[in-house]
Amino acid sequence: MAAAARSARKRRYGNVGANADAAPPGWGPRTSSGPSWFFLLQEIPARMPQTHVTKRYRFCAAHRLHTDQLSPEENWAVFGKCNNPNGHGHNYVVLVTVESGAAMGRYDLDQLDRVVSERIIERFDHFDLNCDPAFANLTTTGENLVKVIWDILEPVLPSGGLQKVGVIETRDNYFEYAGVASTRRGT
Ligand code: NI
Repeated sequence: MAAAARSARKRRYGNVGANADAAPPGWGPRTSSGPSWFFLLQEIPARMPQTHVTKRYRFCAAHRLHTDQLSPEENWAVFGKCNNPNGHGHNYVVLVTVESGAAMGRYDLDQLDRVVSERIIERFDHFDLNCDPAFANLTTTGENLVKVIWDILEPVLPSGGLQKVGVIETRDNYFEYAGVASTRRGT
């Protein structure tokens, strides 16, 4: 290896050992004069460590687990007492996780509180989820609810900021969803 190239590599990767041309331990002898796979792998940028912050919100809502795709008997068999025609209520807890720190730029938690309050709490609190347009063709399961909340929040939060949404439905049931990160520009 030319001295200039060795020097450049040293600047880039640090001191890789007294014999820079030797294969790293366990990688076997080098078979060509080109860069080894070990060094090609070093070209892949590592994901920067990132902290997240999670805020907790609450709303109370009624729902009934039911789908028109099934007969009344099948609905009862699948959903049990959650299919009771009178419905029932939950004290839902919503956990919203966003990226924190400089990467979020204009982001602040007051903004997150405002968005969740306006888009989620005011929409669902003390309402019947089965009557919400988002569930016109969806059963109001926790799995669907957590995805609906993600789909509402993701487009109105800073691009790429939303990391995860969690919904605690009962003491023992927790649902979590992390959709595809947004790549919108200029938001
Ligand atoms: Ni329920």
